[in-house]
Amino acid sequence: MISQYQESLLLSARTFHSGPMDSTYEDVLENLDSGIMLFDEEGVLSFANKQMYAILELQRHSILGCTMVHLLSHIQLSRFKKKQLLRGYRDLVCKVKPKYEFVDEYGRYWRVTLSAGEQMKGYSLITVKEISDYKLIEQTAYQNDSLAMLGKLSASIAHEIRNPLTAIRGFIQLLRPHLQQLGKEEYAKIILAEIDRANDIIHEFLNSSKPSVPQVGAIPVSALLKEIVLLTESEALMKGCQINLHPLQSEMIISVDVKQLKQVVLNMIRNAMEAIAEKADNDMGKIEVGARREGAEVRIYISDNGKGMDACTLDRLFNPFFTTKENGTGLGLSVSDRIIKDHGGCISVSSRINEGTRFVISLPLTH
Ligand SMILES: Nc1ncnc2c1ncn2[C@@H]1O[C@H](COP(=O)(O)OP(=O)(O)OP(=O)(O)O)[C@@H](O)[C@H]1O
Ligand SMILES: [Mg+2]
Repeated sequence: MISQYQESLLLSARTFHSGPMDSTYEDVLENLDSGIMLFDEEGVLSFANKQMYAILELQRHSILGCTMVHLLSHIQLSRFKKKQLLRGYRDLVCKVKPKYEFVDEYGRYWRVTLSAGEQMKGYSLITVKEISDYKLIEQTAYQNDSLAMLGKLSASIAHEIRNPLTAIRGFIQLLRPHLQQLGKEEYAKIILAEIDRANDIIHEFLNSSKPSVPQVGAIPVSALLKEIVLLTESEALMKGCQINLHPLQSEMIISVDVKQLKQVVLNMIRNAMEAIAEKADNDMGKIEVGARREGAEVRIYISDNGKGMDACTLDRLFNPFFTTKENGTGLGLSVSDRIIKDHGGCISVSSRINEGTRFVISLPLTH
C-alpha cells in the first residue's frame, strides 16, 4: 500500500511538473530533512528537493530532465557520488534490497531507499537520509549490551574458578609440612605463588569488566607516563621497538583512578607493539608517548609506526570482542573507552595503513 506521505509527494511532484506547485507542498518537500528524487515513467528526473541538490552538490537546473544514465555521466558529479549511485542502483534495483547504506567522504552515514512499482504508477521515488545519529545510538547500545553481558559472564567464571582455587590453596598448605620433610618445600611455595597469581588475574579481569566507580586521586601526568614507559620499555626492546617519552612542556595534574588510567595507556602501548610486530617490513618500531595542554584539558598521545588500520577496523575498534588478533580478546579498547568516559574524557584515533596509528586520550585537568 502506498503511504499517504508518498501519495502527497507524488501529487506535489506532478503538480510541480505540470504547473506552479501549491506553495504548502513546495515548502514541505523543500524543507524535508531527507533528499528526494522522483523519476517519471520514462525514467526522467522530474523533481528533486533542495536537500537532494545539496547532497549531490549539483545545481538544480543541471539535473532536472536527466535520466539516471545522464546523471551518472554528469561532469560535475564527484567520482565518489557516482560510485555510490551505481552501488545503490545495483542493491535497490537489481538485488531488490529494501535499503542501501553508505558512509560518505566526511564519515557521515546515509540510508537510501527506493519506492517504485505499480503502486507508484510508474514513478520511482528515491529518498536519501542522514542516519549518523541512529548509527551512534545503535553502536552505543551494542557496546553497552555486550559489556553488561560480559560483566555477568565474568562474575560467574570468577565464582566457578575461585572456589576450587581456594580449596587447592588450603590443601597445599596442609601438605606443606610433609613436603618440608621430603625437602621439597620449594614446590609448595611455587604452587601457592601461582595460585595467588591466578587469583590476581581473575581479580584484575573482574575489575576491568565490571563497571566500577573510579578511586580518584590527583597525579601529575608526567609521573604517570614515566612509570608506564618504565614498565613497558624492556618488553618493547625485546619486541624490536623503542618507546620515546617526550618531555612535557608544563606540569599538568589530573584527578583519575591511577590503576585504571595505567590500564588504558598500557593497553594502547601493547597494541602499538603488536601493530609494529605485525608490520611486514623490518623498520625499527617506534612508539611516541607524550602529552600537551589544550585549554582545560590534557591530550595524552600514543603513536606508533606499526601496520595501521583500514576504515573497517577503525569503525569497529571500540566494540567489545572486536579483535583482529589470534589470541586477542578484543576487550582492551572497549574497556579503555568506558574508563576514559567515566573520567569525563574521550579517546580519538587516526590511522593510516602501513604507516601507523595515533591514539589521543583527552582528560579534564584539575584546576
Ligand atoms: N595501534 C594499533 N595499530 C593497529 N591496529 C590496532 C592498534 N590498536 C588497536 N588496533 C586494532 O584494534 C583491535 C582491538 O584492540 P583491543 O585492544 O580492543 O583488542 P585486542 O588488542 O585485539 O585484544 P586484547 O583484548 O587482548 O587487548 C585490535 O585487534 C587491532 O586490530
Ligand atoms: Mg589490546
